[in-house]
Amino acid sequence: MKDNAIKIKRPELRRYLVPINTAATQQMFTDCLVIGSGVAGLRAAIEAAASGCEVMLVCKKQLQDSNTWNAQGGIASVLGSDDSFESHIKDTLATGCGICNKDTVEQVISNGPMLVKELLEWGAEFDKNSSGSISITFEGGHSHARVAHALGDNTGKAIAAALINKVKQYENITIIENYFAIDLITNDAGVCIGVIGKNSKRTNEIIWAKTTILATGGAGRLFRETTNPDVATGDGLAMAARAGAVLRDMEFMQFHPTTLYIAGASRALITETLRGEGAILLDTNHHAFMAEYHKDAELAPRDVVSRAILEQMLKTGSTHVFLDVRHFNKEFFAKRFPLINELLESFDIDISKDLIPVRPSAHYMVGGVKTDSLARTNIPHFLACGEAASTGLHGANRLGSNSLLEGLVYGKIAGQTASQQAKKTVKTAGPPKFRYDIPLSDRSRLDTEDVLNSLRSLMWRNVGITRMAKPLAEAQEIISFWQRYVLDKVFDNPTGWECQNMLTVCLLMAKAAELRTESRGVHFRNDFPKTDDVKFKTHLEFE
Ligand code: FUM
Repeated sequence: MKDNAIKIKRPELRRYLVPINTAATQQMFTDCLVIGSGVAGLRAAIEAAASGCEVMLVCKKQLQDSNTWNAQGGIASVLGSDDSFESHIKDTLATGCGICNKDTVEQVISNGPMLVKELLEWGAEFDKNSSGSISITFEGGHSHARVAHALGDNTGKAIAAALINKVKQYENITIIENYFAIDLITNDAGVCIGVIGKNSKRTNEIIWAKTTILATGGAGRLFRETTNPDVATGDGLAMAARAGAVLRDMEFMQFHPTTLYIAGASRALITETLRGEGAILLDTNHHAFMAEYHKDAELAPRDVVSRAILEQMLKTGSTHVFLDVRHFNKEFFAKRFPLINELLESFDIDISKDLIPVRPSAHYMVGGVKTDSLARTNIPHFLACGEAASTGLHGANRLGSNSLLEGLVYGKIAGQTASQQAKKTVKTAGPPKFRYDIPLSDRSRLDTEDVLNSLRSLMWRNVGITRMAKPLAEAQEIISFWQRYVLDKVFDNPTGWECQNMLTVCLLMAKAAELRTESRGVHFRNDFPKTDDVKFKTHLEFE
């Protein structure tokens, strides 16, 4: 697709969240800095280290705290004998609703089987069928069974554990956990030269890097209802925006149709592969409704299923619908979906008798930092991969389980590009000298938790699964008001920075959603229910 994107001026942002004075700040150096420990970050670190770079891998909490670790369903790749790259490409393009980058789609899909095999060699325990080959299943939008899974529904953990194990084998990778990356640092020429963050000892610390890779994952926590872990607050997106990176497709937040809905339970994902294996959606009158919405019923694309559930909830006046797996063999269920089985048992749900209450919630950030086919952004020496990036693979909607695949492929590419860039970068005589001052805010103290809760509720109500001009405009007005007294502050703790980051990203999301006056993929406008190819068969880019 030609890059005829609609350009939007990014709202003014203070360049850094904290004052910086290199003379008084602890500092470290590396060739390649990777921020984030999901599949993309881990794979990038391995690749850069394998080509001889010194690598630092930093993450906000523990290595395991990522969307990858929580992924259930699997990784999509052409593994079945009756499947083909053409078919996977066709499904991905169809789901992306006209705005995928075809070259990216081909690049990612054709590299899939090789990288899945590599993961297997590195110890990822993919489930096998009786003939010894990798067992594959269906998810919505896939015309062939091609979703490989591991440890039943614990695929993400199996993949991440194998990658973490591999990372730990490289002496030239330094792992730094509990490092909150606050801001990318750019020099006078606009080149990224590292990051300032707070380390586990609560001290600000700069990491100077020849190349920096952003792999900070998603932003589901911007919404009250989400499948994402609490680290997914969109910090990477906000930090990239402040540094001047182009952010693309910010209106495209994918909502997963089935999240466990039990008061008091965290909003746990109930994997789509459950429907791939035959689970049925029922409304609270026990009516199976999906066939009325789409010919593929339970296996319709995710956005269709999420909206159908929402509509059915409205029709029945309920807060949820149900997944029915009463027809499953209990032993099969426990073996195939051990994570969900354990979760349901902990709430006394007997799958042979009881229905599973579910509803949609925010799941995957389709948009992100715009990259080219080498994972480069518009900022020199700043790369992005994984959920934080917008490579062009997903278009306006992500095909289920394509994201772990993208993370692997683009993680590897980012690692390669980073090591090439680092090798070409001449070492400076000493650490850069840098100073950035921020005048003290004279506004009153504030309760950031309260702002965050209100923001998440506002996003869920006004920028959620279905959207309308008035609530979108109202959301921007309210967020801008909150920004006035939150963004001028200097915080010294992650909650404060997260609050600033979330307000920044939410405004971009609401603005893009308002500007796209059509419905496409995961973005549905009740007031513009049709797709408008004349005006909008393209991307919206903040620059
Ligand atoms: O339903 C799931 O297991 C989710 C898969 C995905 O988001 O790719």
